Amino acid sequence: MAEVLIVKSQEEAGEIYARAVVTALARNPQLVLGLATGSTPHAAYQALARRVKEDNLDVSRVQGFALDEYVGLDPEHPESYHSVIFREVVEPVGLNPDLIHVPHSDIDTLPHAGADYDAAIEAACGVDIQILGIGTDGHIGFNEPGSSLASPTRMKTLAEQTRLDNARFFNNDVNQVPMHCITQGVGTIMKAKHLVLLAFGKSKAQAVAASIEGPITAMCPASALQMHPHATFIVDEAAASELKQAEYYQWVARHKPQWQEL
Ligand code: PGA
Repeated sequence: MAEVLIVKSQEEAGEIYARAVVTALARNPQLVLGLATGSTPHAAYQALARRVKEDNLDVSRVQGFALDEYVGLDPEHPESYHSVIFREVVEPVGLNPDLIHVPHSDIDTLPHAGADYDAAIEAACGVDIQILGIGTDGHIGFNEPGSSLASPTRMKTLAEQTRLDNARFFNNDVNQVPMHCITQGVGTIMKAKHLVLLAFGKSKAQAVAASIEGPITAMCPASALQMHPHATFIVDEAAASELKQAEYYQWVARHKPQWQEL
Protein backbone atom coordinates (compact mmCIF):
# COMPACT_ATOMS: atom_id res chain seq x y z
CA MET A 1 0.00 0.00 0.00
CA ALA A 2 1.22 3.49 -0.77
CA GLU A 3 1.78 5.67 2.25
CA VAL A 4 -1.00 8.26 2.59
CA LEU A 5 -0.46 11.37 4.70
CA ILE A 6 -3.44 13.64 5.26
CA VAL A 7 -2.24 17.13 6.16
CA LYS A 8 -3.84 20.39 7.25
CA SER A 9 -2.21 22.66 4.70
CA GLN A 10 -0.05 22.89 1.61
CA GLU A 11 2.66 24.34 3.82
CA GLU A 12 2.67 21.22 6.00
CA ALA A 13 2.92 19.05 2.86
CA GLY A 14 5.76 21.23 1.61
CA GLU A 15 7.67 20.80 4.87
CA ILE A 16 7.35 17.02 4.66
CA TYR A 17 8.68 17.02 1.10
CA ALA A 18 11.54 19.36 2.02
CA ARG A 19 12.47 17.15 4.97
CA ALA A 20 12.64 14.09 2.71
CA VAL A 21 14.89 15.93 0.25
CA VAL A 22 17.17 17.31 2.96
CA THR A 23 17.56 13.86 4.54
CA ALA A 24 18.39 12.30 1.18
CA LEU A 25 20.78 15.14 0.34
CA ALA A 26 22.77 14.52 3.52
CA ARG A 27 23.44 11.00 2.27
CA ASN A 28 23.99 11.89 -1.35
CA PRO A 29 25.12 15.37 -2.42
CA GLN A 30 24.54 14.32 -6.04
CA LEU A 31 20.86 13.76 -5.44
CA VAL A 32 18.66 13.53 -8.54
CA LEU A 33 15.34 15.32 -8.14
CA GLY A 34 12.34 14.77 -10.40
CA LEU A 35 10.62 18.14 -10.81
CA ALA A 36 6.99 18.90 -11.61
CA THR A 37 5.22 22.08 -12.65
CA GLY A 38 1.66 23.27 -11.93
CA SER A 39 0.30 24.99 -8.84
CA THR A 40 0.58 21.97 -6.57
CA PRO A 41 4.35 21.75 -5.91
CA HIS A 42 4.70 25.45 -5.18
CA ALA A 43 4.68 25.19 -1.37
CA ALA A 44 7.07 22.25 -1.54
CA TYR A 45 9.63 24.21 -3.54
CA GLN A 46 9.27 27.16 -1.19
CA ALA A 47 9.82 24.94 1.84
CA LEU A 48 12.88 23.41 0.20
CA ALA A 49 14.27 26.83 -0.69
CA ARG A 50 13.81 27.90 2.94
CA ARG A 51 15.56 24.81 4.31
CA VAL A 52 18.47 25.20 1.90
CA LYS A 53 18.91 28.81 2.98
CA GLU A 54 18.43 28.30 6.73
CA ASP A 55 20.70 25.24 6.92
CA ASN A 56 23.16 26.61 4.36
CA LEU A 57 22.97 23.38 2.38
CA ASP A 58 25.18 22.66 -0.61
CA VAL A 59 22.90 21.88 -3.57
CA SER A 60 25.49 22.63 -6.23
CA ARG A 61 25.68 19.01 -7.36
CA VAL A 62 21.95 18.25 -7.29
CA GLN A 63 20.56 17.30 -10.68
CA GLY A 64 16.98 17.90 -11.76
CA PHE A 65 14.77 16.33 -14.41
CA ALA A 66 11.47 17.97 -15.31
CA LEU A 67 8.50 15.72 -15.96
CA ASP A 68 7.27 17.29 -19.15
CA GLU A 69 7.22 20.18 -21.58
CA TYR A 70 4.76 21.67 -24.05
CA VAL A 71 5.43 21.20 -27.75
CA GLY A 72 5.03 24.29 -29.89
CA LEU A 73 5.94 26.80 -27.20
CA ASP A 74 9.25 28.62 -27.27
CA PRO A 75 11.36 27.53 -24.27
CA GLU A 76 11.67 31.23 -23.36
CA HIS A 77 7.84 31.65 -23.24
CA PRO A 78 6.96 32.41 -19.59
CA GLU A 79 4.64 29.38 -19.43
CA SER A 80 7.00 26.87 -21.03
CA TYR A 81 7.96 24.34 -18.40
CA HIS A 82 11.58 25.26 -19.03
CA SER A 83 10.76 28.79 -17.82
CA VAL A 84 8.50 27.61 -14.99
CA ILE A 85 11.05 25.15 -13.61
CA PHE A 86 13.79 27.77 -13.65
CA ARG A 87 11.57 30.47 -12.12
CA GLU A 88 9.88 28.37 -9.45
CA VAL A 89 12.52 25.83 -8.49
CA VAL A 90 16.02 26.41 -9.83
CA GLU A 91 16.31 30.07 -8.85
CA PRO A 92 14.62 29.99 -5.41
CA VAL A 93 16.35 26.76 -4.33
CA GLY A 94 19.66 27.82 -5.86
CA LEU A 95 20.18 24.72 -8.00
CA ASN A 96 22.92 24.61 -10.60
CA PRO A 97 21.20 25.49 -13.93
CA ASP A 98 23.72 23.34 -15.83
CA LEU A 99 22.41 20.24 -14.06
CA ILE A 100 18.73 20.83 -14.83
CA HIS A 101 17.09 18.96 -17.68
CA VAL A 102 13.78 19.63 -19.39
CA PRO A 103 12.59 17.44 -22.30
CA HIS A 104 13.52 18.99 -25.65
CA SER A 105 10.44 19.90 -27.61
CA ASP A 106 11.82 21.40 -30.79
CA ILE A 107 10.46 19.81 -33.94
CA ASP A 108 13.85 18.68 -35.27
CA THR A 109 14.76 16.56 -32.27
CA LEU A 110 11.25 15.40 -31.27
CA PRO A 111 11.46 11.96 -32.92
CA HIS A 112 14.29 10.92 -30.59
CA ALA A 113 13.84 13.43 -27.74
CA GLY A 114 11.97 10.91 -25.57
CA ALA A 115 14.58 8.18 -25.88
CA ASP A 116 17.35 10.75 -25.33
CA TYR A 117 15.65 11.96 -22.17
CA ASP A 118 15.21 8.48 -20.73
CA ALA A 119 18.87 7.77 -21.53
CA ALA A 120 19.92 10.94 -19.71
CA ILE A 121 17.91 9.93 -16.63
CA GLU A 122 19.51 6.50 -16.73
CA ALA A 123 22.99 8.01 -17.13
CA ALA A 124 22.30 10.00 -13.93
CA CYS A 125 21.53 6.65 -12.21
CA GLY A 126 17.81 7.45 -12.06
CA VAL A 127 15.66 9.91 -10.17
CA ASP A 128 15.90 9.67 -6.38
CA ILE A 129 12.82 11.68 -5.37
CA GLN A 130 10.12 12.48 -7.90
CA ILE A 131 7.53 15.06 -6.89
CA LEU A 132 4.18 14.64 -8.66
CA GLY A 133 0.93 16.52 -8.96
CA ILE A 134 -2.18 14.81 -10.24
CA GLY A 135 -4.67 15.96 -12.87
CA THR A 136 -8.38 16.03 -12.16
CA ASP A 137 -8.51 13.13 -14.64
CA GLY A 138 -5.85 11.14 -12.79
CA HIS A 139 -2.96 12.02 -15.06
CA ILE A 140 0.64 12.19 -13.84
CA GLY A 141 3.08 14.21 -15.90
CA PHE A 142 1.08 14.59 -19.07
CA ASN A 143 0.13 10.91 -19.18
CA GLU A 144 -3.57 11.22 -19.85
CA PRO A 145 -6.12 8.45 -19.18
CA GLY A 146 -5.40 5.57 -21.53
CA SER A 147 -1.63 6.05 -21.38
CA SER A 148 0.30 2.80 -21.14
CA LEU A 149 1.42 2.18 -17.60
CA ALA A 150 4.76 1.03 -19.07
CA SER A 151 5.22 4.06 -21.32
CA PRO A 152 8.61 5.72 -21.91
CA THR A 153 9.12 9.46 -22.42
CA ARG A 154 7.36 10.44 -25.64
CA MET A 155 5.21 12.99 -27.38
CA LYS A 156 1.50 13.03 -26.47
CA THR A 157 -1.65 14.92 -27.35
CA LEU A 158 -3.17 16.74 -24.38
CA ALA A 159 -6.69 15.86 -23.26
CA GLU A 160 -9.26 18.61 -23.54
CA GLN A 161 -9.75 18.53 -19.75
CA THR A 162 -6.06 19.22 -19.18
CA ARG A 163 -6.07 22.09 -21.65
CA LEU A 164 -9.12 23.54 -19.88
CA ASP A 165 -7.43 23.07 -16.47
CA ASN A 166 -4.27 24.81 -17.73
CA ALA A 167 -6.01 27.68 -19.53
CA ARG A 168 -5.55 29.70 -16.33
CA PHE A 169 -1.86 29.97 -17.18
CA PHE A 170 -2.70 31.26 -20.67
CA ASN A 171 -4.97 34.27 -20.03
CA ASN A 172 -7.91 31.88 -19.44
CA ASP A 173 -7.91 31.18 -23.17
CA VAL A 174 -7.89 27.46 -23.91
CA ASN A 175 -6.95 28.20 -27.52
CA GLN A 176 -3.56 29.42 -26.35
CA VAL A 177 -2.80 26.13 -24.56
CA PRO A 178 -0.62 23.93 -26.76
CA MET A 179 -2.15 20.74 -28.17
CA HIS A 180 0.91 18.58 -27.70
CA CYS A 181 3.55 17.85 -25.12
CA ILE A 182 6.49 15.62 -24.43
CA THR A 183 6.23 13.82 -21.11
CA GLN A 184 8.07 11.27 -19.05
CA GLY A 185 6.06 8.08 -19.43
CA VAL A 186 4.36 6.29 -16.57
CA GLY A 187 7.05 3.62 -16.94
CA THR A 188 9.76 6.29 -16.67
CA ILE A 189 8.16 7.85 -13.59
CA MET A 190 7.81 4.44 -11.96
CA LYS A 191 11.58 3.95 -12.15
CA ALA A 192 12.18 6.82 -9.69
CA LYS A 193 13.21 5.49 -6.29
CA HIS A 194 10.69 7.51 -4.27
CA LEU A 195 7.48 9.04 -5.61
CA VAL A 196 5.87 11.87 -3.64
CA LEU A 197 2.46 12.80 -5.02
CA LEU A 198 0.86 15.96 -3.66
CA ALA A 199 -2.81 16.87 -4.09
CA PHE A 200 -4.82 19.72 -2.65
CA GLY A 201 -8.46 20.73 -2.92
CA LYS A 202 -11.79 19.10 -3.58
CA SER A 203 -11.26 19.06 -7.35
CA LYS A 204 -8.58 16.39 -6.87
CA ALA A 205 -10.59 14.19 -4.46
CA GLN A 206 -11.97 11.79 -7.03
CA ALA A 207 -8.64 11.32 -8.80
CA VAL A 208 -6.89 10.77 -5.46
CA ALA A 209 -9.42 8.13 -4.38
CA ALA A 210 -9.23 6.38 -7.75
CA SER A 211 -5.42 6.35 -7.57
CA ILE A 212 -5.18 4.93 -4.06
CA GLU A 213 -8.26 2.76 -3.75
CA GLY A 214 -9.43 2.11 -7.29
CA PRO A 215 -8.28 -0.58 -9.68
CA ILE A 216 -4.88 -0.23 -11.31
CA THR A 217 -5.87 0.97 -14.73
CA ALA A 218 -4.54 3.02 -17.62
CA MET A 219 -7.76 5.04 -17.27
CA CYS A 220 -6.24 6.49 -14.09
CA PRO A 221 -2.49 6.69 -14.73
CA ALA A 222 -1.75 7.66 -11.10
CA SER A 223 -3.16 4.29 -10.01
CA ALA A 224 0.16 2.81 -11.21
CA LEU A 225 1.64 4.15 -7.97
CA GLN A 226 -0.05 1.25 -6.18
CA MET A 227 2.65 -0.95 -7.72
CA HIS A 228 5.54 1.28 -6.66
CA PRO A 229 7.65 0.06 -3.73
CA HIS A 230 8.00 3.56 -2.24
CA ALA A 231 5.17 5.94 -3.04
CA THR A 232 3.86 8.62 -0.68
CA PHE A 233 0.64 10.56 -1.21
CA ILE A 234 0.49 13.82 0.73
CA VAL A 235 -3.00 15.26 0.47
CA ASP A 236 -5.04 17.85 2.29
CA GLU A 237 -8.40 17.04 3.85
CA ALA A 238 -10.37 18.23 0.83
CA ALA A 239 -8.35 16.07 -1.55
CA ALA A 240 -8.75 13.16 0.88
CA SER A 241 -12.50 13.58 1.16
CA GLU A 242 -13.42 10.74 -1.21
CA LEU A 243 -11.08 8.19 0.38
CA LYS A 244 -12.96 5.30 1.98
CA GLN A 245 -10.09 4.39 4.29
CA ALA A 246 -8.98 7.88 5.35
CA GLU A 247 -9.17 7.05 9.06
CA TYR A 248 -7.06 3.95 8.57
CA TYR A 249 -4.34 5.91 6.75
CA GLN A 250 -4.28 8.44 9.58
CA TRP A 251 -4.04 5.64 12.12
CA VAL A 252 -1.14 4.08 10.20
CA ALA A 253 0.64 7.44 9.97
CA ARG A 254 0.25 8.00 13.72
CA HIS A 255 1.74 4.60 14.50
CA LYS A 256 4.60 4.72 12.06
CA PRO A 257 7.80 3.33 13.59
CA GLN A 258 10.20 6.15 14.41
CA TRP A 259 13.03 4.58 12.43
CA GLN A 260 10.94 4.61 9.29
CA GLU A 261 11.57 7.73 7.22
CA LEU A 262 9.21 9.15 4.66
P1 PGA B 1 -1.88 21.49 -10.79
O1 PGA B 1 -1.69 20.38 -11.92
O2 PGA B 1 -0.77 21.26 -9.83
O3 PGA B 1 -1.75 22.80 -11.48
O4 PGA B 1 -3.21 21.26 -10.19
C1 PGA B 1 -1.35 19.09 -11.56
C2 PGA B 1 -1.22 18.24 -12.80
O5 PGA B 1 -1.89 18.52 -13.80
O6 PGA B 1 -0.44 17.27 -12.77
